[in-house]
Formats: sequence, C-alpha cells, structure tokens
Amino acid sequence: MGKNVVVIGIQWGDEGKGKIVDILSEHADIVVRFQGGNNAGHTVVVGTEKFILHLIPSGILHPGKTCIIGNGVVIDPEVLLDEIGTLASRGHFRAEDLVISKDAHLIMPYHKRIDIGRERLRGGRKLGTTGRGIGPAYEDKVARCGIRCGDLLSEEDFRLKLRLNLHEKNHYLRTILHEEGFEIHEIYHKYMAYAEKIGRYIKDTSILLNEAIEHNRSILFEGAQGTLLDIDHGTYPYVTSSNTVAGEAAIGSGIGPTRIDTVIGISKAYTTRVGEGPFPTELKGEEAERMREHGGEYGATTGRPRRCGWFDAVAARYSVRINGLQGLVLTKLDVLDDLDEIKICTAYRYKGEIIRDFPTETTVLSSCEPVYETMEGWKEKTSEIKSLDGLPKNARAYIKRLEELLGVEIIIISVGAKRKEAIILKNPFDL
Ligand code: GDP
Ligand code: IMO
Ligand code: MG
Repeated sequence: MGKNVVVIGIQWGDEGKGKIVDILSEHADIVVRFQGGNNAGHTVVVGTEKFILHLIPSGILHPGKTCIIGNGVVIDPEVLLDEIGTLASRGHFRAEDLVISKDAHLIMPYHKRIDIGRERLRGGRKLGTTGRGIGPAYEDKVARCGIRCGDLLSEEDFRLKLRLNLHEKNHYLRTILHEEGFEIHEIYHKYMAYAEKIGRYIKDTSILLNEAIEHNRSILFEGAQGTLLDIDHGTYPYVTSSNTVAGEAAIGSGIGPTRIDTVIGISKAYTTRVGEGPFPTELKGEEAERMREHGGEYGATTGRPRRCGWFDAVAARYSVRINGLQGLVLTKLDVLDDLDEIKICTAYRYKGEIIRDFPTETTVLSSCEPVYETMEGWKEKTSEIKSLDGLPKNARAYIKRLEELLGVEIIIISVGAKRKEAIILKNPFDL
C-alpha cells in the first residue's frame, strides 16, 4: 500500500525540512511542494556537496522520483530556470522528473517591485519579507487577477491578463510607492521566452497525483516556511502570505484531505526566526551569537543572520495542535553539544499571569515573558552517534522532556547537516 506523508515546519521556518525530505524521499515515489515560493531555502548536504533548493522539491537529488510543484505554490520562472540550470550543471536534473501545476500562480516583476517598495514605505514597521514578491503574488491570486502557469501556454490570454494587471500595478507603483512602472512588451517577451523553456513541465498535477494514489504510489508533501508563519495561524501580520500548515497539503496539490495518512512536524532543538515579529525566547548578545555561529544560522535565501533563542514548548505545543502532528523530527541537536545548561520555555508570564496556550496576537505575544526550565547539557559531540542509546544521558533526557511537554513522539533525531547524520527511530511511511 502506498502512503502519503506530509512534512511541515513547526516553528518560524528553516527547521531542516530540506534535509529531512531528502532522507525520506527514498521511501516515496513522488515529492510535492504545495505552498510558498522561492522565499523558501531548503538545504540538502550530500557528502561534500551542498544544494539549496527554493522551488524544486528536495526529492530531486534522488533520481527517478517525480518532483511536483503544486497549484498552491507561487512560481518565479526566472528563479525556477536558474534552479534547473544549476541542478543540471551539477548532474542532478532530469527533465522527466519535474512537473509543474498549470494552476500555480506566477510571480511577476511587478510583484517583486511592490514587495520591496512597500517594505520601504513601512519603514520601522516593515515585516522583513524576503523581497521575492511572494505576498503581492498571493494577493493577486485572492483578488482573482493573478496569472497562472497555464496562461503561459496561450500568448493571447497571457497578454490580455498582463495588460489588465499593468494598468492597475503601474498606477500603484508610480503614485503610491513612487517606483517605476513597467512596459507591457518587456514583460511579455521575457515571459514568452520562459514559456518556451518551462511549457513542457506544465500539466494538470491533481490528475497525476490522484492517479498515483490509485496505483498505490507513496507521496511525500514538502512544506515550506513554518506553522508560526502561517497566514491564518501564525503571528499575524509577521507571517508569510500562504497557509503553511499541514491542511494546505491537500489544497495546494489537489488531493482530498482523506488521502493524507500521516503528518509529521520538524523542529530545531532550539528556535530561530528570520525577519521581524515577536519571538519570546529570543537571546541577545553573546549567547545568541554563539548559537548563530554553531548552527550556521544565516538565511538560505537572503543570507540574513537568523535571530536565535531557546526551544519554545508553548509555541511547539500549539503547532502540534494546529497540524494534528503524529510524529516529530528534532533537528540540530548537535548545535547544543557544548552548552553547560539548556533552557526550555514551558509557559509564558503575561501581565502577571501564567499562560500555557500560545497567543498569536502580536501585542500579547510581544509582552509575554518566557518561563524557563533548565536542563543540564551533555558536553559531548553527537554528530557521529547512530542510535538513541548511543546519545549522552542528558541528551536523551532533553529529548524525553520535549516529548512530554509536546505530547508527541520524536521519531527522527538529526545530529548534523549531512544525509547520514540522523538517528531514525521510526519511518513515517510505516507509522
Ligand atoms: P529548511 O528551510 O527547513 O529546509 O532549513 P534550512 O536549509 O533553511 O536551514 C537548516 C540549516 O541547518 C541548513 O544549513 C542545513 O544544512 C542545516 N542542518 C539541518 N539539519 C541539521 C542538523 O541536524 N545539524 C546541523 N548542525 N545542521 C543541520
Ligand atoms: P523555509 O521554507 C524562514 C519569512 C521572512 C519574513 C516573512 C514574510 O526556508 O523555511 P515573505 O517573503 O514570505 O513575504 O516574508 O516570512 N520567511 C521565512 N523564514 N524560512 C522560510 O522558508 C521563510 N519564508 C519566508 O523572513 O519574516
Ligand atoms: Mg530555509
């Protein structure tokens, strides 16, 4: 029997989804991205080679696995072609393995300019977006004026939709954002050239996925961003513009929710956030610096230093609930290897009261003070350890405590960036 497994981040992104999807791809026939766009940066390290994937599913490094970019994704064709080119030059791209949904929306040049211009206009209240045009592209989708991959296949439709959009966008860019507008012919010719190159990949991916399910194939759904960046359930407005939670796997790929067998979450053994917004367990100064350097915490997409802090069990428990998690993958345990003490936030103090449910309101969350429990460190290198029993006693105690606090089983422990540096206790395809 085929199994369908959804993998999502449970924090503010960068939990190590790329690495885990790469490992799990071995058990899947198809790997699907179902939301987000090239705001994502998923790192996979194989041997001495490092790959950063922004749009193509992390399964691409396994020959013969079909990689689908679903309808819920927003696609910048320039970035996609770049990614295809880079993978091809490194011997990791096979055209027959990539399929793109005809219904996925396109990121257009004006989306990027609006994203950047609007952030500038917001000044001190900026969101810290990746500047890739993600928000404005999703806005157009919801406003019902977006242009989709399928439109690239009809020159006439594409030109008409582009003209209608530019009419509004140029006005907005020039008068509100004080940016330059666009000429229709420059975008038109550029996108028609993209169409020639990517047209062959554009298909009805919902049909393909549902047929695969009928034929007992296994599908791995690769989330991007993290639960706390979800447009509905995250720390609004400091979120991304898509639903990043497990439920989106069905919507963003065109399968029914009843087809999903298992949902697993990925979390770092501590917390990071890139961009603006509240972060109760954030560390400052030397402690943060140390975590950032040991964890290599610099954005895979923008190179920005990531904000770092302790594990937040209040936020993680919330993500367990919102996603209905059946298992958890804990990554980057090795980053904590040389600490004397490790803290876990078990509750918040808000206006003198103890609260245990994660508040998503920015005003409340930014006034919450973490209540910590302190555990002893293990002061031992973990990256070469291959079994749970082989881990230092204090590391096992830390893992056990997290399981207790979150009410979910930890099924994989990642102890290094490389493919082999993982302790697999349970295979999510067998859960
Ligand atoms: P993603 O967006 O969730 O795929 O995560 P990113 O790739 O943006 O960031 C995770 C970073 O941590 C990458 O540089 C990975 O190579 C690295 N990484 C993943 N798992 C581990 C781990 O267990 N230990 C260490 N030290 N690094 C890891
Ligand atoms: P992966 O898939 C971490 C953050 C941005 C910003 C906010 C909105 O690699 O985990 P956007 O450009 O999406 O409008 O920016 O969301 N953000 C991410 N942070 N990892 C990501 O992806 C992110 N994608 C977006 O930094 O705070
Ligand atoms: Mg990332």
